[in-house]
Amino acid sequence: MKNRKMFNKKYQRREFLKQSSLAAAGTFVAMGMTSSLFANNGNDAGLPAILGGQPIRTKGWPVWPQWNPETDEKRVIDDIRSGVWSRGALVTEFEEKWASAVGAKRSLVVVNGTNALITSLVQLNIGGGDEVLVPPYTFIATVAAVLATGAIPVFVDVDPETFQINPDKIEAKITSRTRAILPVHILGLPANMPRIMEIAKKHDLIVVEDACQAHLAEINHQKVGTFGHAGCFSFQNSKNLAIGEGGAIVSNDIEFMDRCYSYHNYGNPYGTLVGTVGAGTIMAGTKLRITEYQAAIGLAQLKRLDDQTTTRNVNAEYLKSKIKNIPGIIPYKLYDNVTRAAFHLFPFRYKKEDFKDLPRKEFLKALVAEGIPCSSGYQTINNMPFIGNAFQSKNFKRMYSEDLLNLNKYDEQNKCPVNDRLCNEEAIWISQNLLLGSKSDMDDIARAIGKIQTNADKIKSKL
Ligand SMILES: Cc1ncc(COP(=O)(O)O)c(C=O)c1O
Repeated sequence: MKNRKMFNKKYQRREFLKQSSLAAAGTFVAMGMTSSLFANNGNDAGLPAILGGQPIRTKGWPVWPQWNPETDEKRVIDDIRSGVWSRGALVTEFEEKWASAVGAKRSLVVVNGTNALITSLVQLNIGGGDEVLVPPYTFIATVAAVLATGAIPVFVDVDPETFQINPDKIEAKITSRTRAILPVHILGLPANMPRIMEIAKKHDLIVVEDACQAHLAEINHQKVGTFGHAGCFSFQNSKNLAIGEGGAIVSNDIEFMDRCYSYHNYGNPYGTLVGTVGAGTIMAGTKLRITEYQAAIGLAQLKRLDDQTTTRNVNAEYLKSKIKNIPGIIPYKLYDNVTRAAFHLFPFRYKKEDFKDLPRKEFLKALVAEGIPCSSGYQTINNMPFIGNAFQSKNFKRMYSEDLLNLNKYDEQNKCPVNDRLCNEEAIWISQNLLLGSKSDMDDIARAIGKIQTNADKIKSKL
């Protein structure tokens, strides 16, 4: 129980922070509701726990983030004692190791994924007057990053089977103002990069990959984040490589990476960006450096990322095989060329018509009561007020015509009905740390879903 309590406490806090500060994520149904008084009697067909029956599971789940004092702490403590806290050798080592882990020539570590995206876009000269194509099934930061540059996000609806941007719908959204595509490997499942790169090439568009949830995911054995001009990662606490806060840009374009480096360090000259001796700072930059002790934490986490990714893949595949034949449950699909996913989340679609019309939120409550933490995922982002807020800003009003900032027209042009259905009715997430459990843990998840399916009418009748 101790583990479970620890997990629940951390989990709730993390989700609370995520949701209260950035309202894009859906609500993870409250954890720890199941009573410790009940033991699992293995009777799947019994009364659902939400109706007072015995929960499938009373044990906890693997904690996140993981920390092993014996192997992880020495470098952090040595650094703290050394007093070298600002950017130095540890950050450089982490950058080199991250670049090598994803197979990119260079990596720059910055304060978070949001600023990795902003830096990449700005250094690829995207800004006022430009349009950037984005999927609506994403975290708010993807869209906020586009707005922060002064560009307008244009939404391309998603493929419901993969949850990713639908390549078939990209070209219809390209206008004379389109400068870039920002595909997101959402939930840690790869977007269809070969198709996206083909379209980008045809229309001469820049591609920045939001791989903030997709550490070590691969298409044809090539890591995501390395297909486009730049790839961006997040090391926020919930991510598969967790530092607390942190982010990275990866690219094979050395000059671009030098510009990003300068930008993250007040605009001071770096690498190919040497400037004139004595002329001082040459770029209008900002400051986005992480600390040495953050890098020491990142280096410790990086050591276990590959093994954890393998475990998540094995368990996700097994869990998928166990639930795919349950009526009303449609697990995620990976594109054929995906050789590895990151599974930041394990997603499936819920069809309430196969659950006696039991609303999704009641299904989620019933699943939580069985001891399985789960969530409805994202809310629709394409009509959130922050976009209108940006359009009302002084900068946007100076950069764009009234017509382009007409929110009714924008909303009309940015409708994404497939995404609306995913967000409002169908999507269900199980968090990555559950996938770090055992095969029998996956069996518990599958049995709990099956139990609710069997008892859907009973649950419905008590609403
Ligand atoms: C898809 C996506 N993009 C961008 C970000 C932003 O990363 P960060 O929280 O590190 O700024 C996140 C983080 O949650 C994310 O999930």
